Amino acid sequence: MNNENSVKIIGTGSYLPPKIVTNFDLEKIMHTTDEWIRSRTGIESRRVADEKTATSDLATIAARKALEDANLMAEDLDLIIVATVTPDMMFPSTACLVQKNLEAGKAVAFDIEAACSGFLYALTIGEQFIKGGVYKNALIIGAETLSKILDPEDRNTSVLFGDGAGAIVIQKTTDNTGILSSYLGTDGSKGEVLKQPAGGSRIPSTYESVKDKLHYVKMEGNEVFRFAVRIMGKAAMEALKLSNIKIQDIDFLIPHQANIRIIEAAAKRLELPMDKVYVNLDKYGNMSAASVPVALDEASKKGLLKKNDIVVLVAFGGGLTWASTVVRWSK
Ligand code: ACO
Repeated sequence: MNNENSVKIIGTGSYLPPKIVTNFDLEKIMHTTDEWIRSRTGIESRRVADEKTATSDLATIAARKALEDANLMAEDLDLIIVATVTPDMMFPSTACLVQKNLEAGKAVAFDIEAACSGFLYALTIGEQFIKGGVYKNALIIGAETLSKILDPEDRNTSVLFGDGAGAIVIQKTTDNTGILSSYLGTDGSKGEVLKQPAGGSRIPSTYESVKDKLHYVKMEGNEVFRFAVRIMGKAAMEALKLSNIKIQDIDFLIPHQANIRIIEAAAKRLELPMDKVYVNLDKYGNMSAASVPVALDEASKKGLLKKNDIVVLVAFGGGLTWASTVVRWSK
């Protein structure tokens, strides 16, 4: 590893809106059961943002916590990237709104969208800017209010997702820790299986598009499931290969939190016992781009990650997209 030119995580933060919606709450409003949701997904409850709260609000709180953890001021930031599929609006970007809220006047800010893989895509972009010497301190955020784009009458999707935000601060390092490798993948030819059809230029928002519920998430769950089971383990293996780290050397896996059966399949492929895998989907459901950074922040704050531990972050999502990052933990 070239330790002259590596990038490390120096702070983490997360925020979940306070309202908890349990499977039993959902039983009362749709044709589902706690037993079905728990046995098929592992999810028991999720957090839901209230009417007045948008993605940038959650992102800003998570960002402030990450900055505090990193001992940095907002003015120290050179770059803010927000990964989200639920921006406050089409434009300005959510990252611009966060920049305004933080008063991070020096920072360049933009969004990226790679669905649930978005946070790891954003991290890889931020890493390149820092490695290239363009910027010193970057704030990388995954933030979502998926509840705003779910059809409350579609039990295939509305039981799966939740709202939340996670953030990290990254910086250049020469101390032999930090990001060891990243691996990103895309298969646009399969993107139809998971999408929000309306609201863009193909189907602009109209009375008709809303009446036809085209502004809601549409998902072919079985197709996504098959893809996810195959790709999570593979993506992690590819990133490990790039950093010459063996699977036996993994200390902790932080996977995207979509479905416990998908996570267990990835752990099996990596020959990891489940006590080395961070799981919080029982409490939060699938928070898309926010899942990995929220899980990373929780694992860090609980003291589960020790300095020099090999931590593998892995995600898959709409697009279709997938991503994995191998980190030698720095904190
Ligand atoms: N409650 C009760 N029954 C339900 C529910 C529900 N909430 N949802 C579906 N069912 C029914 C179906 O209608 C079906 O009934 P039928 O057999 O009479 O037709 C039955 O349950 C079985 O449905 P399956 O789709 O076969 O169930 P499966 O075991 O595949 O689980 C699930 C479905 C949980 C959606 C699974 O396929 C999955 O997790 N897929 C991956 C989803 C995912 O990860 N999406 C996020 C991607 S990340 C991103 O970028 C946003």
